[in-house]
Amino acid sequence: MEKPRTARLLHQLLVLYQRVALYKIRDVRQPAQQTFEYRIEEIMAIAPTSKQANVLVVGANGGIGLGFVKALLNDDSIQTLFATYRSPESAEELLSLEAESPQLKCLKLDITEEEQVVQAIAQISAAVPNLHWVINCVGILHEGDLQPEKSLRQINADQLMRYFQVNSIGAVLLAKHLMPLFKHGDRSVFATVSAKIGSIEDNYLGGWYGYRASKAALNMLMKTTSIEYSRRCPKTIITLLHPGTTDTQLSKPFQRNVPADKLFSVERTVSQLMDIIQNLTFKDNGSFFSWDGSPLPW
Ligand SMILES: NC(=O)c1ccc[n+]([C@@H]2O[C@H](COP(=O)([O-])OP(=O)(O)OC[C@H]3O[C@@H](n4cnc5c(N)ncnc54)[C@H](OP(=O)(O)O)[C@@H]3O)[C@@H](O)[C@H]2O)c1
Repeated sequence: MEKPRTARLLHQLLVLYQRVALYKIRDVRQPAQQTFEYRIEEIMAIAPTSKQANVLVVGANGGIGLGFVKALLNDDSIQTLFATYRSPESAEELLSLEAESPQLKCLKLDITEEEQVVQAIAQISAAVPNLHWVINCVGILHEGDLQPEKSLRQINADQLMRYFQVNSIGAVLLAKHLMPLFKHGDRSVFATVSAKIGSIEDNYLGGWYGYRASKAALNMLMKTTSIEYSRRCPKTIITLLHPGTTDTQLSKPFQRNVPADKLFSVERTVSQLMDIIQNLTFKDNGSFFSWDGSPLPW
C-alpha cells in the first residue's frame, strides 16, 4: 500500500538527516585520525637523532651556513655532514674544520652551474645511501658591483638575472637532483633559507627589486617542489625559513638602522632555525616560517 505523501516526505527527510549526520562524524574524525598518524610517524622518525643521519649544508662557507656546520658538528647523532663552498681561498675556516672532523666532507659547488650540482650530488651518493636534512643557505644581496636597487632607475637586466640565478634557480636545481637521496622511509627535511622581504603580501616598503623578486620566486619554486615531493618522496618536509636580520657579511652594509635587539648573532639565528627544523611535522610541507616559528604570508 502506498504511504501517504506527508509520511513519505518525512521518511526522505529522516534519511537525508542521517546522511548529513554520518558525513559530519566522518568529517570530524578525519583530522584527528590524521593527527594521530602524524604523531606515530614522528615518534618513529629517526632523523636526525639516529646515528645514521646524513646532512648536507649548501652555502656552508657563509655566515649562517658556517654557523649551521659548527652547530651540527656538535651533534653526535650525525654520521656524515656534507658542506659546500665555492673557492678554497675564501673557505679557510670551513676547510680547517674538515681537517679536524672525520664526519665533515666539504664539496666544491657553484649553485648556478647545473653540472657542478650534478657532480657534488654524485659525490654524496657515492658516500651515503640517503640524506635526512638538507639546509640551503645560499643567497646574495650584494656581490661586487651588484647592489640592491633603490629605484626603477637602477634596474638592470643582467643584475636581475644574477639574483634569480643564485637566489631562486639554484635551489630548484638542488631539488631536481637531490630527490633520489630523499627516497627513503625516514622523516627528512629540505630547508631553504629565504627572506621575509620575498613576501609579496608583506611588501610595504618597496625597493630591492631583484632580491625581493628572486626570494619570491624561490618561495614559489620550493612550494611547487613540495607538492611534487609529497607524491614522490612523501617523508620529506620542504620548508622556507626567514632567519631574521643576522650579523653576516650579507647584512653588514645595511645594519645601521637595525635596532640592536633586532640584529641576531649567527649562533642565535642557527639555534632558532634548528628549533623550527626539529619540530616540523608532515603537515608543514610547503611552508614559510619566520625565525620565531610563526607562519609568514606568501
Ligand atoms: N643575514 C641576514 O640578515 C639575512 C636576512 C634574511 C635572509 N638571509 C638569507 O640567509 C641566507 C644566508 O645568508 P648569510 O647572511 O649567511 O650570507 P653570507 O654570509 O653572504 O652567505 C651566503 C652564502 O651563499 C653562498 N653563495 C653565494 N653565491 C653562490 C653561488 N653562486 N653558488 C654557491 N654558493 C653561493 C656564499 O658562498 P661563498 O662563501 O663562496 O661566497 C655563502 O656561503 C641567504 O639566502 C640570505 O638571503 C640573510
